[in-house]
Amino acid sequence: MIDSLRQAIHHAYLIDEAEAIKRLLPLAAFDARQTQTVAISARILVDAVRTSGSNVIGMESFLREFKLSTQEGVLLMGLAEALLRIPDQATAEQLIRDTFSQGDWQKHVGHGDSFLFNAGTWALALTGRLVDWHYGGDGKAFAGIKQMLARSGMRAVYLAITQATRILAERFVMSRSIAEALDRSRTKANIGECYSFDMLGEAAMTKTTAQAYFAAYHEAINALNGTTNSVSVKLSALHPRYEFAQRERVLVELTPLVLALAGAAQAANIGLTIDAEESERLDLSLDIFEQIFCHSDLKNYHGLGLAVQAYQTRALQVIDWLAQLARNQGKLIPLRLVKGAYWDTEIKRAQVQGLVGYPVFTRKIATDVSYLACAKRMLTASDAFLPQFATHNAHTVAAILAMRDGSQDFEFQRLYGMGETLYDAVRAGSKLTPPCRIYAPVGSHEALLPYLVRRLLENGANASFVHNVADPAIPVDEVIADPVAALRELDVIPHPRISLPCDIYQPERRNSQGISFAEPSEVRQLLEQIRLALNREYTANAVIDGASWSSAGREIRSPADIERIVGHVEEANDEALQQALTVGTATAVPWIATPVTERAASLERAADLIEMERATLMALLVREGGKTLADGLAEVREAA
Ligand code: FAD
Ligand code: 2OP
Repeated sequence: MIDSLRQAIHHAYLIDEAEAIKRLLPLAAFDARQTQTVAISARILVDAVRTSGSNVIGMESFLREFKLSTQEGVLLMGLAEALLRIPDQATAEQLIRDTFSQGDWQKHVGHGDSFLFNAGTWALALTGRLVDWHYGGDGKAFAGIKQMLARSGMRAVYLAITQATRILAERFVMSRSIAEALDRSRTKANIGECYSFDMLGEAAMTKTTAQAYFAAYHEAINALNGTTNSVSVKLSALHPRYEFAQRERVLVELTPLVLALAGAAQAANIGLTIDAEESERLDLSLDIFEQIFCHSDLKNYHGLGLAVQAYQTRALQVIDWLAQLARNQGKLIPLRLVKGAYWDTEIKRAQVQGLVGYPVFTRKIATDVSYLACAKRMLTASDAFLPQFATHNAHTVAAILAMRDGSQDFEFQRLYGMGETLYDAVRAGSKLTPPCRIYAPVGSHEALLPYLVRRLLENGANASFVHNVADPAIPVDEVIADPVAALRELDVIPHPRISLPCDIYQPERRNSQGISFAEPSEVRQLLEQIRLALNREYTANAVIDGASWSSAGREIRSPADIERIVGHVEEANDEALQQALTVGTATAVPWIATPVTERAASLERAADLIEMERATLMALLVREGGKTLADGLAEVREAA
């Protein structure tokens, strides 16, 4: 049973979106009365958020103006991240000068309506002018700047910007150390809140970095002993090769580390949740989770949790598999349902890799529907899960509240620096509201960038709830639109402006075909084809006018193992060369006269043949050129 559920996960990877949605829609739907209840509650929540704290809205407007789809947003992000790490002022000043000499800062001035926003944009616009002027620009500086610069110089600018970027970072990161975070959690303002602390750091590139992140987690777990808090772990922080291609090694090396952290969490009597990262890591994360969850040392530990991303087309299948795993072990899984924070990366990666489909939905409302379907599934599996619903969206919150029948235990979760007013409003609406845990990143600014970029993307994306609720020009009806109804009205489910990876260059040409090295069945098939290809004997020689041209041959040996003969090559001799030139000259004129569509069709055929022989070509690239499979694939794709 559990194996067939795991197979279902593989089947749903890169599945046609419409097919996935067909299955999810009925699960996510409410009856007419419930739909109305959800709409009324969502409206009350949105109204409450909109009439609350102007400071938060101010920051949101700022983030919206400088979103990462604008050149200035990207520049600002890079600057914010780098400035926090540059130790010397001279380099920092050079970076500021460099940043503000690009982009059009002036155009952002005066777009927001709050003090914070306008102060921020004016400072940036001013700096743009300032730098321009200071370093010999057009000299059209604002009145007074010359004087200010003469008085304070570049140092003032540096201080102002460092301070501004620190404010940005502090918006999303709770503190630099776990001790400081705990102190803050005990202050009067925060009493009664519970947290899941995330030690900043991910995608470790070296063993040393991974060891440092592991130590930080271990220290955090010990410090939290006996509190109601938990920790959230990113496995990519703990191992530099946490990727499917290194599966065997990862299972041997990473599993004991996670087991050690889970053991420490058990001893400290706190929860430990494994975060969901890039979709390519999902399968491996499930293997690791299974091993730890079923480990005899942890048979009485009920705190090992996992995050599942609803934007993945296989989310529901993952939940079904996890439910069976929990039942088999007779333990509950604290399961955090999120929509997913890597959407832009997932889309781009699938396109770059030339995959047959996307691992995530391409419409925001499809993710919302998937979230609701998964939430319902979790709530009906009370023998398997302790559900945790992580969202900042008022409609999603209202829908979940409408789903429960009163008896289920669950909690909401929000990110530090986000959703505060929403959950204040939820609490104000009912005393029976489930608790809301805060996911709070802790750590130094060196490890901040990826997390900060995801938050800025989330806050700046025009599909995001937090973006829309902060924009008073967007009607409430739009902000709380029912995703089930919206999806049902569509004729075409996939987003029409997000072509499949194979079509991104159309109408000019087809994209070359790739392989997902994270999909076990695809990798298994490829390795089998490569194995068969390597059993054959190869002789390479010149082919002139369709005929093989034989000459004295020599052996080709593998650079990785010179005992291994890959094949033989018979180089073209003078006679062959002469023949090639003669044939080439004779065919040049008729070839030029051939209609371009026909010539193009020949090239297309050649590309098709290259793709058909992909496994053989990759096998030879690996054996003869000493390439990795990924590099071999890249070379075949480039040729095609
Ligand atoms: P909404 O505005 O309703 O939804 C935004 C989301 O919709 C986007 O983030 C994206 O997932 C999705 N989306 C946007 N555009 C599209 C599109 N065109 N097609 C399809 N989908 C789209 N994220 C992780 O990946 N892993 C984690 O482990 C994780 N842990 C979290 C823990 C907590 C406590 C919280 C609150 C969040 C966590 N997140 C995690 C981040 C989370 O994924 C985002 O905060 C969440 O997606 C925002 O959803 P929302 O309901 O608040 O907002
Ligand atoms: C992220 O790191 C919160 O896990 C989520 O973006």
